[in-house]
Amino acid sequence: MPSIAPCSCIYGILVLFLVTGSFAGDPYVFFDWTVSYLIASPLGVKQQVIGINGQFPGPTLNVTTNWNVVVNVKNDLDEPLLITWNGVQHRKNSWQDGVLGTNCPIPAGWNWTYQFQVKDQIGSFFYFPSLNFQRSAGGYGGIIINNRDIIPLPFAVPDADVVLFISDWYTKSHKKLRKDVEDGKDLGVPDGILINGFGPYRYDEALVQGGISYQIINIEPGNTYRFRVHNVGISTSLNFRIQNHNLLLVETEGSYTVQQNYTNMDIHVGQSYSFLVTMDQTASSDYYIVASPRYVNSSKASGVAILHYANSQGPASGPLPDPPNEYDMYFSMSQARSIRWNISAGAARPNPQGSFKYGQITVTDVYVIVNRPAELIDGKWCTTLNGISYLTPSTPLKLAQQYNIPGVYKLDFPNTQMNRHPKVDTSLINGTFKGFMEIIFQNNDTTVQSYHLDGYAFFVVGMDFGVWTENSRGTYNKWDGVARSTTQVFPGAWTAILVSLDNAGIWNLRAENLDSWYLGQEVYLSIMNPEIDKSEVPLPDNTIYCGALSSLQKDQARRYSFSCAPSPAGLSRTFLVVLIITLYGPFFFHVTAS
Ligand SMILES: *[C@@H]1O[C@H](CO)[C@@H](O)[C@H](O)[C@H]1NC(C)=O
Ligand SMILES: *[C@@H]1O[C@H](CO)[C@@H](O)[C@H](O)[C@H]1NC(C)=O
Ligand SMILES: *[C@@H]1O[C@H](CO)[C@@H](O)[C@H](O)[C@H]1NC(C)=O
Ligand SMILES: *[C@@H]1O[C@H](CO)[C@@H](O)[C@H](O)[C@H]1NC(C)=O
Ligand SMILES: *[C@@H]1O[C@H](CO)[C@@H](O)[C@H](O)[C@H]1NC(C)=O
Ligand SMILES: *[C@@H]1O[C@H](CO)[C@@H](O)[C@H](O)[C@H]1NC(C)=O
Ligand SMILES: *[C@@H]1O[C@H](CO)[C@@H](O)[C@H](O)[C@H]1NC(C)=O
Repeated sequence: MPSIAPCSCIYGILVLFLVTGSFAGDPYVFFDWTVSYLIASPLGVKQQVIGINGQFPGPTLNVTTNWNVVVNVKNDLDEPLLITWNGVQHRKNSWQDGVLGTNCPIPAGWNWTYQFQVKDQIGSFFYFPSLNFQRSAGGYGGIIINNRDIIPLPFAVPDADVVLFISDWYTKSHKKLRKDVEDGKDLGVPDGILINGFGPYRYDEALVQGGISYQIINIEPGNTYRFRVHNVGISTSLNFRIQNHNLLLVETEGSYTVQQNYTNMDIHVGQSYSFLVTMDQTASSDYYIVASPRYVNSSKASGVAILHYANSQGPASGPLPDPPNEYDMYFSMSQARSIRWNISAGAARPNPQGSFKYGQITVTDVYVIVNRPAELIDGKWCTTLNGISYLTPSTPLKLAQQYNIPGVYKLDFPNTQMNRHPKVDTSLINGTFKGFMEIIFQNNDTTVQSYHLDGYAFFVVGMDFGVWTENSRGTYNKWDGVARSTTQVFPGAWTAILVSLDNAGIWNLRAENLDSWYLGQEVYLSIMNPEIDKSEVPLPDNTIYCGALSSLQKDQARRYSFSCAPSPAGLSRTFLVVLIITLYGPFFFHVTAS
């Protein structure tokens, strides 16, 4: 395992208990997380960041296919919080998705326990706070879903994993940034690019100020590492590369890819990749690990970490390895098209990925979804999909559905851009359970956008510049298009995806670019199973109620509060812990005893 400096806490995984026998079937893992502000100066300027258990980035959830994950999240911020698990499918269980369509926010000072199974998945994902622009201040961390032992990896087992979070970064607080976005201000060029929460190595004294801490990855010569790289940023596409080292692409967001060498990879907001990197260099010096912004005219903003061989003969020096041509989107698109599915590899199940022959399935619903740049609607800055800017109702959609509350949402999201004035509305896509949906994203903005669907992986079957037409289907990859959960859509271009709607629930489809998302670029898919006997996971016992259902919220929740209130609160908390131990026996005993 490589040691990582200066912060050794990246592997600080808080696994409280691993119970393997006491629950029927799959193991449970328990985590206790406190989300709070920390002070850090990643770019040499002191600022508030969001950490988990005092760590920024947060701890890695390192689990195995089918494990049950229980995460008790305490909100020690001064505003509501939800954590969402980007790419984790939560089969039949959108209750755990951690977005406002499915969950009431966890109020400041409260806690809420997520419980979900990482069913039938492998791969590299990340979690992040989904509300109020909080991701721009951190709060993110990695999710690794390892394969079960009975299913071999489609490559030699790497010597260790290295998790890297790359992101654009601003020294403004998330509150200031979201205010700017509300006011229609452009975020502008980022102040820097972070790698694992650290600023750049001082590769150029004129461009990088002194005294900034940077990430060092310590490695052994000859070893092969699996680098799991996530773009957790706000809105900047990043080019990732390691000086003098090949990146052998093997996985993206839960699918094994055809293994190919790249010298660099464009990673768009919200995307995750695994690369195998063999330490095959002479170690005449250290090497640069670079994440540089794409399509942004700012060379000073590159993120630079250091790859340090145990036998290194000196520091890295000289210029950074070259990026691809700064404004060449054709390069980026053809690189994206070169990423394909390894149809013969088994993943979460032993049968090959390609045994799901998506190219032979008949499409049941088609949506051409057009995004537009921010515009004023009734005096407020909004972004739209098919002319609709999503309005978050005070009662989550999923709860409104469960309690048959009328009028919270409509199932009338249009199949195409309508020739009408843009509006703000709570309009959902009515998906057909077990249907096969084709979605074409048409980017009418001037910047790269990425779109993410919760609850599913979709097949990326085509992308091209210009306006999509029915004839564009002739170019689709019907054979080995990769299945993933986040795809980029280039400006003035389209991307087509296919998705098999087999996961009942209400699922968020959103722009991963925070500014686009914050101003309304999201929609939900309602996928209802008409058969009761195959229904979804029931409403969780610990559901938080809000909006039209506020009156159902029991007072107890306040007493679970983890604020620093003096003794009366402490007393009632002790009482509750005793009560909970009595009620839930060994399950919670493990949690509270630790
Ligand atoms: C994840 O856990 C496995 C063992 O289950 C371990 O081999 C691996 O090093 C861990 N990875 C990280 C990044 O902690
Ligand atoms: C808050 O945490 C306690 C344990 O510390 C747990 O018993 C309780 O269920 C949690 N509250 C919710 C709403 O999940
Ligand atoms: C990737 O490059 C390495 C050399 O660094 C080579 O050994 C390997 O065969 C290449 N793999 C593929 C799939 O091209
Ligand atoms: C980028 O900015 C520099 C000066 O800051 C300018 O000289 C250069 O022309 C710009 N490049 C492009 C492609 O706009
Ligand atoms: C696909 O996966 C198989 C394992 O099933 C592996 O042996 C093979 O090398 C992979 N092919 C490519 C092109 O990556
Ligand atoms: C939603 O779709 C289902 C079929 O999947 C259909 O029965 C139902 O009437 C639709 N609801 C609305 C409001 O269109
Ligand atoms: C956006 O749409 C308008 C009107 O249809 C068109 O003129 C413009 O070229 C489009 N822009 C992009 C970047 O697609």
